[in-house]
This record gives sequence, C-alpha cells and structure tokens, in this order.
Amino acid sequence: MAFEFKSLLSATATTKAEPFSGYPPYHFVGGNIDEPTVPVEALANAVGKVIRTEGHNLAKYGLNSGPQGHLPLRKFICDCLKKRSEIAVKPEEVLLTSGSLQAMDLVNQTLLSEGDVVLLEAANYAGTLTRLDAIGVEYVGVELDSDGMRMDLLDRALSELAKAGRKPKYVYTIPTIQNPTGSVMPVERRLEMLTLAKAYNIPIFEDDCYADLTFSGERPAAIYALDNDQRVVYCGTFSKTIAPALRVGYLVAPWQLMSHILPLKTDAGSGALEQMVLAEYLPGNFDDHVCDLLPVLKAKADALCLALDEHFGASVAYEKPVGGIYLWVTLPENVDTDRLFQAALDQGVAINPGSQWTVDGSANKHRMRLCFGHPSIDNIRKGVAKLADVCFEEFGVPFRSGNIERG
Ligand SMILES: Cc1ncc(COP(=O)(O)O)c(C=O)c1O
Repeated sequence: MAFEFKSLLSATATTKAEPFSGYPPYHFVGGNIDEPTVPVEALANAVGKVIRTEGHNLAKYGLNSGPQGHLPLRKFICDCLKKRSEIAVKPEEVLLTSGSLQAMDLVNQTLLSEGDVVLLEAANYAGTLTRLDAIGVEYVGVELDSDGMRMDLLDRALSELAKAGRKPKYVYTIPTIQNPTGSVMPVERRLEMLTLAKAYNIPIFEDDCYADLTFSGERPAAIYALDNDQRVVYCGTFSKTIAPALRVGYLVAPWQLMSHILPLKTDAGSGALEQMVLAEYLPGNFDDHVCDLLPVLKAKADALCLALDEHFGASVAYEKPVGGIYLWVTLPENVDTDRLFQAALDQGVAINPGSQWTVDGSANKHRMRLCFGHPSIDNIRKGVAKLADVCFEEFGVPFRSGNIERG
C-alpha cells in the first residue's frame, strides 16, 4: 500500500492539482503565445554563443552579478524601460525573477499580511486573485470602462475604506492592456490615480505584463514614470513577447523597498542560462521582434472578432482589442460560462469562465475570456464555430432561426 501523505498536509496545501492531460484542440485559455513567433533560430544561436563564452560563470550562484540577476540583462531592461515606458531606473532597482508571478509573490510577501485589504480592477487576472485569496487578503474591485479603472469609483472606494478606518496596502493595476478587458489607461487617468494614491498615502503596484503589445506600437508613459515620490512598484516580463516558458520576468522598485524584497527571494537566483541568452539576444533584436509580432497578434484578434460576429452575431458584445492576446466577451445573461466551460471542454474547446476573472464572480457568469495568442487563425475559426454549437445546445444562444427557448 502506498504511503499516505494526506494526514500530514500543512494548512497551505489545501488544493489538489490534476495530472496534465495535454492541451485541447481549440485552446483559448491561459496566457500562452503564438508558437511560430518564438524566435527559435536566433535563440539557438544565442544559447551556443553564451554557453561557449560565458558558460563557466554558471559555476557561481548569480553568475558575476549577485542576487538581483544577470547585470547585462538588467542594463538592457533599464534601456528598454526608458525608451518604451519613460521609466528612468538603474540596474540596482531591477530584480530578475522567475516570471512576473514571482515578482508578484515577492511584493505580496513584502507588503501584505492576512486580513489586509487592497484595491484592484474589478475584472482581473485570476492569478492575482488566487494569490490574494491564499494570503487571506481582502480585495475591493473597482469597475472599469474602456479607459481602464474608473477614478471616480477608486476615489469612492478609498473614501469608504477610510471611513471604516481601513487603509489599503496598495492599488494593484494592469493599466496597459488590462487583463482581461484589454483597456489601456490614458495618461490623464494615470495621473489621477497617482493623485489619489498621494491623497490617501498608499502605494501603487503596476503590472505592465502586456505593455509591449499595443498593436499601434504606442503606449502611454508608465505610472512608475509619472510618479515623483517613489510610491510605485512595477513588474514586467518577457513571457508575452519572447516566451512564457523561459520564466524571465522582473520587478522594479526603489531601493528602500528593494532592500526588503531581496532577502525574501530565497531561491538562490532565477535560471541564469535564460537570463544570459536573453541578454545576448534582446539588445539587437527586441524592437524588430516586437514589430514583427504585433501584426501577427492583430490578425489573430481580427480573426477572433470576425468568427464571433459570424457565429454568435448580436449574442456577444466585446470591445475590439487594441493589443495583447485576450478578448473579454459578454454573452446574454442566461449563459452560465462555468457550465459552458465544461460542455465546451468535452468538445475540445477551452475557455476561461468570467466568474474566475472577476472580483464579483457570480455577477459575471455570462462573461468569458478568450485568448487568441495561442490558437492558429484556422483553429480560432473552427474553435469559435464549435463553441457556438455547444453554447446553442446548452443555452439556446446564439439565437438561430427556429430557436426554441432553453434554460
Ligand atoms: C496580468 C498578469 N500578470 C502576470 C502574469 C504572469 O506572467 P509571467 O509569465 O511573467 O509570470 C500574467 C500572465 O498571464 C498576467 O496576465
């Protein structure tokens, strides 16, 4: 009989994973990117070059750069942030992490305790919400419009918390191509957020994971760049531009906070070979790579919108994406996307149900997030057609002539 671990599990080991059973044929789930756009040849050359010229540095934890990660990559990130986001920082204010998820964990570990409260966009990245749940942190959702988090509602939420004698630990925001709504917050609103943060004396945690993926190539200055009193913590990643499986993200914070974050990164450094390869590949190639990537993603976004229009017609509402890899879709109220999720999966179509991507899950069961980054255009077309069939079977939506009313 196998040894029984169940009775030994700690209080944090409450959830149970299922073994990986492969990807479904129509995969609209997760933050995965387009496989053909991974710059395989150039990365292969970079691997060969760095391993031959700098490979012996792998003998040391942290290479020659210490605990914050490979210095040449941190220097590249500083140059890139200056050029693209108007952020002026030094390599000492950058920490390389195992994806921006580790950056998020470190910020949370540094600032949050059970019972704390934070504010965030009411539709949000599920990975952010589950992390806060796991720490026992309460989150207040602030509704968005097409320009991102609404500042009148943020003001109201802050004022209500203040009246209740509660001070939030931070405002978490994804201002540039918000996940899942795809909104981009204009500069004026970013400045308003800073003004509110100042008035209530709280920090802002800016997650700029998709910042390089606006289809126009233009983006507003980062909130970090607009801040003048060091109240913003920032994270970014190469997951959405180069490859998520590399697990290279970064955290940017003023040294007064960074100095408290560093002792909490207890993994002896994130993967060094990936950092060395990116430091070799990115300086001469990043801009061109992103430039090539944007039309590919835009074509996929267009294909998804077209397929939804064709197969769901007026039964769906969405804002046409201006960047990124997601579409946030609203269906008629009688559609329960938790149920649709299972029925669609049985037919090989994976979607993200709205309940998991919102603070008020029960009010958003008729919404879903579709990732167009991963499936090919052909699979986008076929997958949406299949999804419409399943949705019709389950809910009588989309309306088709001869439609019977269904629950
Ligand atoms: C808003 C947001 N933040 C962070 C992450 C995590 O990305 P990474 O692969 O850099 O850990 C994601 C991934 O989808 C995301 O959507």
